[in-house]
Amino acid sequence: MAKIVGIMTTSHVPALGKAIHLNLQQDPYWKPFFDGFPPIREWLDRVKPDIVVSCFNDHGLNFFLDKQPTFAIGTAPEYISEDEGWGIPTMPSFPGAEDLSWHIRDSLIRDDFDMVTCQEMLVDHAFTLPMALMWPEQKWPVKSVPICVNTVLFPLPSARRCFKLGEAIGRAIAAFPEDAKVLVIGSGGLSHQLEGERAGFINKEFDLKFMDSMVNDPQWATQFSDIDLVEQTGNEGVELLNWMVARGTVPGPVKVVHSNFHIPISNTAAATMLFEPI
Ligand code: DHB
Ligand code: FE
Repeated sequence: MAKIVGIMTTSHVPALGKAIHLNLQQDPYWKPFFDGFPPIREWLDRVKPDIVVSCFNDHGLNFFLDKQPTFAIGTAPEYISEDEGWGIPTMPSFPGAEDLSWHIRDSLIRDDFDMVTCQEMLVDHAFTLPMALMWPEQKWPVKSVPICVNTVLFPLPSARRCFKLGEAIGRAIAAFPEDAKVLVIGSGGLSHQLEGERAGFINKEFDLKFMDSMVNDPQWATQFSDIDLVEQTGNEGVELLNWMVARGTVPGPVKVVHSNFHIPISNTAAATMLFEPI
């Protein structure tokens, strides 16, 4: 049977792609963020997941304002890394966990989630950077299931709906008949706003409360509407919805294996957490 062995949530900032390319992990500006990853890599070496289910937002590479699914899932044999315009290096392509993708997709649709099925999907920095942070040699030892959440075109799915999607993904994984150790990823956030009058907005107090809620009260953020979340976390801070999906896959108690928070990386309050189900 498939089993969720961990949940890893992290910010994704395109400039990290440049920093990785230029080997700036020990540079004083970048070090506080990159230092969040050695403990995660130790855990990966020990636990050795087979498959990642990555919950993230596409930034205009597959979907934009012309066509924007609220939720989409990849069912492809392979996912090709593309740069959606930041000038960051692409990465080797990612093998797809096709059987698990189709199984989750069928299960979610039967569970009343209207997933868009993507038999082809490009992956941008929100998918690729967490992978490269976990496996810096970029030889992927896992197969992937990408799940996209609309954090771009309003109204967004509510935090409540995202958590419920996570719960449904968790049920689907538990019902997958093949043996597989699954790591769930939530990519995005925490507070940041890239444009407009509030460009550069960061809300440390909210971020720390949100990180605490991920451990102790995972449905805390379901009280907020999409507009509340923009107000509290910035226009791009709403990417924390991807964390809600990821945490929803294990809705009960979790143990924190590692946690890191640093302001800023580029325009973002950057956080990384790793949880194990109890
Ligand atoms: C930045 C953060 C993001 O989440 C993103 O998608 C693009 C840029 C930033 O802080 O620069
Ligand atoms: Fe982003």
